[in-house]
Amino acid sequence: MKTFPTNFAWGVSTAAYQLEGAWNEDGKGESIWDRFTHTPGNIERNDNGDIACDQYHRYPEDFKLMHQMGIKNYRFSVSWSRIYPEGKGQINQKGLDHYSRVVDSLLENGITPWITLYHWDLPQALQDEGGWPERTLTDYFAQYAETVVKALGDRVKRWMTINEPGVVAMHGYREGVFAPGIRDPRQAFQTAYHLVLAHGKAYNAIKAISPDAKVGLAHASQNYHPLTRDEQTAGRIAYRLAEGNGIYLDPLLKGTYPQIILDRLGSEAPEIRPDDLKIAHQTDFIGLQYYADHIVGPDSIDFEVKGKYDFYDTTETGWAVTPIGLYEHLMMVKNEYAPQEIVITENGSAWQDILGPDCRVRDLKRQDYLVRHLAMLHRAISEGAPITGYFAWSFMDNFEWASGFRPRFGLVYTEYASQNRYIKDSGYLYSDIMRANGLQDSYSFS
Ligand code: FCB
Repeated sequence: MKTFPTNFAWGVSTAAYQLEGAWNEDGKGESIWDRFTHTPGNIERNDNGDIACDQYHRYPEDFKLMHQMGIKNYRFSVSWSRIYPEGKGQINQKGLDHYSRVVDSLLENGITPWITLYHWDLPQALQDEGGWPERTLTDYFAQYAETVVKALGDRVKRWMTINEPGVVAMHGYREGVFAPGIRDPRQAFQTAYHLVLAHGKAYNAIKAISPDAKVGLAHASQNYHPLTRDEQTAGRIAYRLAEGNGIYLDPLLKGTYPQIILDRLGSEAPEIRPDDLKIAHQTDFIGLQYYADHIVGPDSIDFEVKGKYDFYDTTETGWAVTPIGLYEHLMMVKNEYAPQEIVITENGSAWQDILGPDCRVRDLKRQDYLVRHLAMLHRAISEGAPITGYFAWSFMDNFEWASGFRPRFGLVYTEYASQNRYIKDSGYLYSDIMRANGLQDSYSFS
C-alpha cells in the first residue's frame, strides 16, 4: 500500500457556472460567462450554462450521492452575481440564503465545504466598468468576500479567493477565448496583477471576520517538458515559467514580482504601487491545479499535442498524460517557495465516456490517469512536499467553458437530457482509494 498522511483531505471540485444552471433565478445578475455564452460563435455548438447540471436545484441529491461515494470534502464556488447582481452595492439576500442551505446540506452529509469565491463568473456590470484591468475591482472583490464570509464563515473554514488567475488573465483578456473575450496583452498583465492584489485584500477581509479560517488561492500549475537539449530552449522555458507561475506565486509566497517579466513588458508592465506586494504576500495555503505538461519541441511549445507526438497518450482534450510533471512541479514549488501548505485543488482528465446498457461507464483511461497521478503525489509527499489534500476534477461531467459539454471530466456521468447521474468506474475506484487513504501496490483495470 502507498498510504497517505493521517487526516489527508480527499475531495472533489466543481465551479458555479459549470454546474449550477439557474442563470437568472432568485435575483441573480448577469455574469460575463452568461454574456459570453449567449453570444453566438464563442462556444462549441453554442452550448451554454443556463441549465448545465441543474445543481442549483439538485444539490440535495448530489450531496447524497457524494456521501454514498465516501466523499468528505467538496470544493465549489459561489457566484458573485447571485450575491451582488451588479457586482457591488445592493446585496441579494436570496443568493446568500441559497449558499447557506448548500453549506448546511453538505454538513448534514458529513462533507466539509471548501469555497472558491471567484471561479471566473464576474458580474457583467463590473466588466461594463472595465473589468479586472480596473484597480477598483480589487476593492469590490474584497467587499464581496467579506459579505460571503459574514454569512457562511461560522460553518466554512477553507476559502480560496481566485481560481486560476492565469487563465482569467490570459484566456480572458489576452487570447480572448474565454469571457470577456478581450485581446489586449496590456489588459491581460494588469488583470493578472490585480487578481493577486485582490487575493491579498480579500485575505485581510476574511481574516478580520474569521481569524481561524484558512485562506488560499488556486493556481493553474504550469510545467514545461523539453524534448530538446539546447540553451535556447532553457531560456524560453525560464521566461514561460515566470509568466505562467512566477507572476502569481512570487507575489503570494515571496512578496516580489518577476523582474524578467517587467523587463520584457517595459512600458506595458502592470502598475504596481508601494505596499501592494505586502498585501498580496499573504496566504495560508496554495492550491495547485495540474492537468498536463506543456511540451517544448524544437519549434513550438504546445499544450494540445494530440497527433503531434505519438509517444504520448493524449486525453480527449488533446493534452499529454504526463504524471511525472505533477511531481516535478510540486518539487519546484516546495524548493523555490517553501509554502506552509499545498492542496491539490484540481486534477483530472477527459475521455470519450460511453454509458453502457448496464449503466456502467468503463473509463479505464481515467482510472489509470488517476492512479498514476496519485502515485506521483505520494512520491512528492514522501520527499517532503507539504501536501495536505487532493481534489479530483470533477465530481461530475459539466460545462467545460469554450468546449461546452463535449469533454467529460467527471467521476460521475451526467446524462444531460434526463439529468440522471451514474457513478463511473473511476468514481468507484476513487471511493476505494479515499476509504483506504491510499493506493494499492498495483492495479489492473478491466
Ligand atoms: C481548469 C478549470 C476548471 C476546469 C478544468 C478542466 O482550468 O479551473 O474549471 O474547466 O480546468
